[in-house]
Amino acid sequence: MFEKLSLIPPDSILKIISEYNADHRPNKIDLGVGVYRDANGNTPVMSVIKKAEKYLLKTQESKAYIGLAGDPDFTDGIQKLMLGDNNLPKDRIFTIQTAGGSSSLRIAAELLKISSKDICVWVSEPTWNNHEPILDSAGVKYKVYPYYDTKSNELKFDQMIECLKNIPSGDVVLMHACCHNPTGMDPNPDQWQQIIEVMQKCNLIPFIDNAYQGLANGLDEDAIPIRLMIESFDELIISSSCSKNFGLYRDRVGGLTVISRNSEIAKKVRSNTLRIVRTMSSVPPDHGAAAVGHILCDEKLSNEWVLELNDTRNRLKNMRMELSNALKAKTDTSDFSHIEKANGMFSYLGISPTQVEKLKLDYGIYMEGQGRINVAGITSENVDYLADSVFEVL
Ligand code: LMR
Repeated sequence: MFEKLSLIPPDSILKIISEYNADHRPNKIDLGVGVYRDANGNTPVMSVIKKAEKYLLKTQESKAYIGLAGDPDFTDGIQKLMLGDNNLPKDRIFTIQTAGGSSSLRIAAELLKISSKDICVWVSEPTWNNHEPILDSAGVKYKVYPYYDTKSNELKFDQMIECLKNIPSGDVVLMHACCHNPTGMDPNPDQWQQIIEVMQKCNLIPFIDNAYQGLANGLDEDAIPIRLMIESFDELIISSSCSKNFGLYRDRVGGLTVISRNSEIAKKVRSNTLRIVRTMSSVPPDHGAAAVGHILCDEKLSNEWVLELNDTRNRLKNMRMELSNALKAKTDTSDFSHIEKANGMFSYLGISPTQVEKLKLDYGIYMEGQGRINVAGITSENVDYLADSVFEVL
């Protein structure tokens, strides 16, 4: 029965985890999968999560199913975090809990598929390596819009706008709210405004991947594009993840928010979405979302979380600076200032796949094949070795 299947190559990001673990060189560096690391190279559980978990241990009396739409403390909390105070009628919006951001994207893709067979989703070139496979698996067509120039390490902003102008009315545009994965390069608020104006004129529907809120410039600052969009569009899809900003990677905590034109449509969208959820994974996992829900309902814990998140963001910014300075000190022929300009965990280093391979084989430095680095893997201790090694392969 299975003989017609072909072999699927391993995921280019996830395979780095096992390759890195199998490497026994003491000076190896992991700049692969997007997981935060502190100055000692550890990925600790946030202390505010530990507190919420203690609370859950004490108060949760049951492991019975939660509802299909998830925990209301969680869904209300993340909705408020993204949308802020707004005047949208509540009956046009719903947020459901999902098993991480990836499930949210997949559920949204399934929803698009049943809403219109001809719909096409436009993704940035480049984009997160799982966007296209998710759309593909749901049977949704996709095309790419220009986004990043690997020669100049800047946004291809004018080309992106030109492309958006020519996208057929009713198509969907998948965008990263902040901390663009893999480049870390985001439009500024003025550029977002221009993107929104063109999309409005061309009747395009925004689909936002909000996986890194709080890691670029702050929780509210990072939500600027979303908040501009809810003023401008009457239909909007947002997939969010708490993997990075709550450090809950393996607990699979995410949400899907859909804003519809009116309350009648919203009811239908919600019921169809819940049917998709029921047939894919049924009720969502509880633990991580219950911890987030508890934190977001408790002012003291929320404030503690914001402080921890600030530390995370500041460390990422510092490591960007340290790497950029260390590289500048090594070579004056290459410009690495884009590493400092980018946001969040990722940047393109600006090296070729062959050089990426050489860094792995000769120096034990691991990154995604196109030269995407996770800056959280950099420490003050390893930054010089990293810069020296990059210099050697350049
Ligand atoms: C990444 O891009 O490294 C993360 O989002 C983890 C993943 O699942 O790819």
